Amino acid sequence: MGQVITALQQKGGAGKSTLLCCLGGFLAYDDARVVIVDTDPQRSCVQWAEEAEIPGLDVLEHRAERTLLEVISRLKKAYDVVLVDTAGYDSAIACYAIQASDLILIPSRGSKRDVVGAATTWKHVQTQVKGRKMPPQIRIAMWNVKPATLVYRHGREALEKAGLPLLQGTVNALTGFENMSWNGGLPDGEALRAFGEFIAALQLEGLLDYYAGAQEVA
Ligand SMILES: Nc1ncnc2c1ncn2[C@@H]1O[C@H](COP(=O)(O)OP(=O)(O)O)[C@@H](O)[C@H]1O
Ligand SMILES: [Mg+2]
Repeated sequence: MGQVITALQQKGGAGKSTLLCCLGGFLAYDDARVVIVDTDPQRSCVQWAEEAEIPGLDVLEHRAERTLLEVISRLKKAYDVVLVDTAGYDSAIACYAIQASDLILIPSRGSKRDVVGAATTWKHVQTQVKGRKMPPQIRIAMWNVKPATLVYRHGREALEKAGLPLLQGTVNALTGFENMSWNGGLPDGEALRAFGEFIAALQLEGLLDYYAGAQEVA
């Protein structure tokens, strides 16, 4: 059964789609069978995939909330990893995505709006999964950050102080990630290395079912 991983964050532009495209591309290059279910009308993942094909990676557009659970349970049988991109953290479709998830990743930059958005999203997930036998793992990932800045330090401290589950692995603001929207595929150079470290951080915490790292990506 494939692992279902959803990116969620109240604050728009935090990096959900970029994170999922990288994750999908990286794991597919590592021979995983991956599908991204794009539930966002902005279609960022769909548009990214139109630019360059990655063998082993499919991207589906799906915006009908009532059938999402059914579609995901079908995809779990055919793929190793099912990634779900969302718009809005508390829409009906996002709530269905939460229900189906094994892992929820909440990207956050250092700004107060990102941090408040991450905390709000985390609380919302808690209310949605209350009583579930196997609740999803949740991690907040500092993403698109500039490590030597005060805003990053403030953001990190606020997330730690609030006791939120922070992933031990951050991804910096790098142009390679921005180029992805034009080029499709994985980012190159420094951004690819940064994402490799991000995957390693996920693996170190035992958060990925599919074992990546068996092959060179670059
Ligand atoms: N690590 C990063 N470094 C630099 N730019 C990034 C990074 N991650 C995302 N971006 C850029 O930030 C913008 C928002 O990212 P996106 O993934 O679309 O966010 P969301 O899906 O949460 O709305 C995009 O223009 C994207 O290229
Ligand atoms: Mg998006």
